[in-house]
Amino acid sequence: MSNGPTIATPRRPAVFLDRDGTLIEDVGPISSPDALRWLPDTFEALRRLAAHYELFIVTHQVWISRGVLTTEDVERVHRALLDRLAAEGVPIRRIYTCPHTKEEGCLCRKPSPHHLFEAAREFHLDLARSFVVGDHPHDVETAVRAGSRGLYVRTGHGERHFDELPAGTFVVPGIREAADWILAIAQAERRMGDWTAELARAVARLRAGRIGVFPTETVYGLGARALDPLAIARVFEAKQRPAFDPLIVHVAGEADATMLAAEWPEAAHRLARAFWPGPLTIVVSKRPEVPDIVTAGRPTVALRCPRHPVAIELLRALGEPIAAPSANLFGRTSPTHAEHLDEAIRAAADFVLDAGPCAVGVESTIVALRGGRPVLLRPGGVPLEAIEALVGPLEVPAESSCDHPESPGRLPRHYAPRTRLALLNSRAAAAPPEGRWGCLAFREPPAGGGWAMVEVLSPAGDLREAAANLFAALRRLDDGGLDGIAAEPAPEVGLGRAINDRLRRAAHPEPAA
Ligand code: TXA
Ligand code: MG
Repeated sequence: MSNGPTIATPRRPAVFLDRDGTLIEDVGPISSPDALRWLPDTFEALRRLAAHYELFIVTHQVWISRGVLTTEDVERVHRALLDRLAAEGVPIRRIYTCPHTKEEGCLCRKPSPHHLFEAAREFHLDLARSFVVGDHPHDVETAVRAGSRGLYVRTGHGERHFDELPAGTFVVPGIREAADWILAIAQAERRMGDWTAELARAVARLRAGRIGVFPTETVYGLGARALDPLAIARVFEAKQRPAFDPLIVHVAGEADATMLAAEWPEAAHRLARAFWPGPLTIVVSKRPEVPDIVTAGRPTVALRCPRHPVAIELLRALGEPIAAPSANLFGRTSPTHAEHLDEAIRAAADFVLDAGPCAVGVESTIVALRGGRPVLLRPGGVPLEAIEALVGPLEVPAESSCDHPESPGRLPRHYAPRTRLALLNSRAAAAPPEGRWGCLAFREPPAGGGWAMVEVLSPAGDLREAAANLFAALRRLDDGGLDGIAAEPAPEVGLGRAINDRLRRAAHPEPAA
């Protein structure tokens, strides 16, 4: 007879983290705390996760059975590891260690879900709402067997075992993006309740030719079935977007992209393998099945696989590509929160899937592959440097100001707030110009007073954080009743290029009426 508590307390969701290659560098057996090498994003990512999830570490230390390390060695290292995490503001409930070799036939070695079941009993966890994050296919398999969700990171052994992953595995670059992914699901639950039911409704509406808003890791998109020209026409109408500006087609993975492309060059495969799902759009020649209205009559199609759980689940549930521009009125700032949607867009949308803030915050990088050198059509969420490391130097076309440039995202004035924006050459001056001025600073507030409003993009000087904050900060300044906004440029490297590109376009003078 059970005499346990009679009042049911809700079960908590958890994140089970692999240790080596996921939180710390995988350097083989670690016998001393001095040998711990933390991956750069671990502390921040776990701090963010700890606010919503119980955290556990599940690690395989075969070195114990092999006699390379003693149990005491591993326990000493784990005590130091827990101390350091606690000092960084990260509470870990428990570390579960399997010391066995495969031949010993133990119950606890991943992909056995044994430790997850044990934790669920002891800590009253909801495994169906829990996650396993790791750099080995057995981490993902553990999640499947426990009825949890698995997330594969490319750090540690991630790249080496990438090709062994079962189809459909969710892959992210590292622990930071794993946290973004998991927290997006937590937000979707908070804002939509049963979000998978909302998703099913959205799919039904898309199938009926309707349009709606969904989150991606860059910005919110306004989507329609890519193969439904009438629905696409609704998107153009809702955005008040000129018909010469083609849409990006979102796909669930590389295989779906190749079904829409007339050719899928080796460079496309290399880029998709490295950066999908993620903020990279690849422009290639299109198949005739892609409607002309999507590509604005061009022979090419822009393809991207987004790194957002709601976007991916939507694409998988629909089973078809979704064409979607950013969910803003043409020429205006892209929404990085559902709260930022224009009334006109909300009124035109048949559904809004709200999963909170977008983690990357600037739109995808666009690269065209049409034979010859790859061309950068728009800097964005994947740094130019990372792309060039894979496919060689990119051609960067000169700014064009004609009406129908190669990529209309390159129109000189775009992404604009209503308030006049002046892009400074350097740090904001001590005092603002005459009138009520706001300052968009990169790292530190301007030295002097007199500014009516100040927004700092990243006090830590982190370009990723700055990109994630950019559009929301611009919006707050735009709503501040200011005479003007003075914006400091970010350093012109990595994501800084995308930030400065958006600021330059926002700052361009209004064309004469
Ligand atoms: O991050 C993003 O890319 C977001 C999210 C929603 O995925 N989407 C987005 O879409 O920024 P949009 O429509 O705001 O910008 C798409 C850009 C446009 O500048 C368009 O001209 C360009 O992609 N584009 C689309 N198809 C193209 C093509 N066939 N050739 C050249 N450029 C193309
Ligand atoms: Mg590992």
